[in-house]
Amino acid sequence: MNTRTLGKTGFKVSEIGLGCWQLGNDFGPVEDKEANAILQTAVDHGISFFDTADVYGGGLSEQRIGQWRRALTTPPIIATKVGRDAALYPDGYSKASLKKSLQASAKRLGVEAIDLAQLHCVPREVLFAGDILTWMEDLKQEGVIKHFGASVEMLDEAKFCCEHPEIASLQILFNVFRQDAVESLFPIAEKNNVGIIVRLPLASGLLSGKMRSDHVFNEHDHRSYNKDGAAFHVGETFNGIPFKKGVALVDSLKNKLPDNQTVLDVSLRWILDQPQVSSIIAGASHSSQVIRNAGVSSLPPLSKETHQLLGDFYREQVRMEIRGGI
Ligand SMILES: NC(=O)c1ccc[n+]([C@@H]2O[C@H](COP(=O)([O-])OP(=O)(O)OC[C@H]3O[C@@H](n4cnc5c(N)ncnc54)[C@H](OP(=O)(O)O)[C@@H]3O)[C@@H](O)[C@H]2O)c1
Repeated sequence: MNTRTLGKTGFKVSEIGLGCWQLGNDFGPVEDKEANAILQTAVDHGISFFDTADVYGGGLSEQRIGQWRRALTTPPIIATKVGRDAALYPDGYSKASLKKSLQASAKRLGVEAIDLAQLHCVPREVLFAGDILTWMEDLKQEGVIKHFGASVEMLDEAKFCCEHPEIASLQILFNVFRQDAVESLFPIAEKNNVGIIVRLPLASGLLSGKMRSDHVFNEHDHRSYNKDGAAFHVGETFNGIPFKKGVALVDSLKNKLPDNQTVLDVSLRWILDQPQVSSIIAGASHSSQVIRNAGVSSLPPLSKETHQLLGDFYREQVRMEIRGGI
């Protein structure tokens, strides 16, 4: 597993990380035994960077990580998020409420101070007002957190964050079906030493290539209840693309790739070919998926022709299908 530096944190993190939303049972139920297997398989395959949030499963994801990490001699880097708990979102933000939430996360995770605390898609007016960033600076000074970053929906929010002197990392929606950040964000992030953390690398699983258009998702899976953005931002589910359209686009892309390349490998490798990316936090609901995804770190970069093909395909066939803005 190759490692990269995570922006201003200076942490060396595995270029394939683990997204732990699934451990909150938000992609359908994951039993405790499988949750542990997912976490343990990840470290066994070189993964040293984990992403979670206080709201995943109402704290369940953090709790599972916390219980598991206590037995480790070399604990991995764990990033969590703050700002979407009902006590804060949408208008309960204050330094005291952030501190309370973060201290509760630290307790669940079993850490003294949180490695990386990310603002969790807070309302844009709250972000742009800037006070919340000052509070995060204070909480860093107070030792509640070691570093802070932000997870955002829109590229203008991402660019705003990059200009803040202490933001260490940015978590964004980015994949072969959402490529705009390459030109509009990455040069600014690089200039300001902000590490890019990529979420939805597989567009909620569409780009694994396994999905059929008649697939029925569990009622507790956000890919069922949020497929059109009824519960939270539409971009967080299938990248904002209507499910059946997404499956058709993936099928069409498969036909354009050389026979020896899978859409999953190409999708993850394309992201790794962007040097500004620090880590891809691919989510997994089975340990076998973790092994498969970790393996992409050892694949060679894609050819110039494949990059051209993916760029053209995105501009000509995908971009116009994304709902919720970019
Ligand atoms: N606002 C935010 O800050 C925010 C929002 C969303 C996500 N995130 C973070 O980003 C992480 C990644 O995003 P995501 O999980 O939503 O999307 P993702 O990584 O694009 O997709 C994850 C899903 O893809 C499928 N998958 C993964 N590896 C596979 C493999 N090797 N073979 C077949 N299928 C595979 C699984 O679907 P099945 O479960 O159907 O098998 C898995 O649940 C999350 O876990 C979370 O930590 C943050």
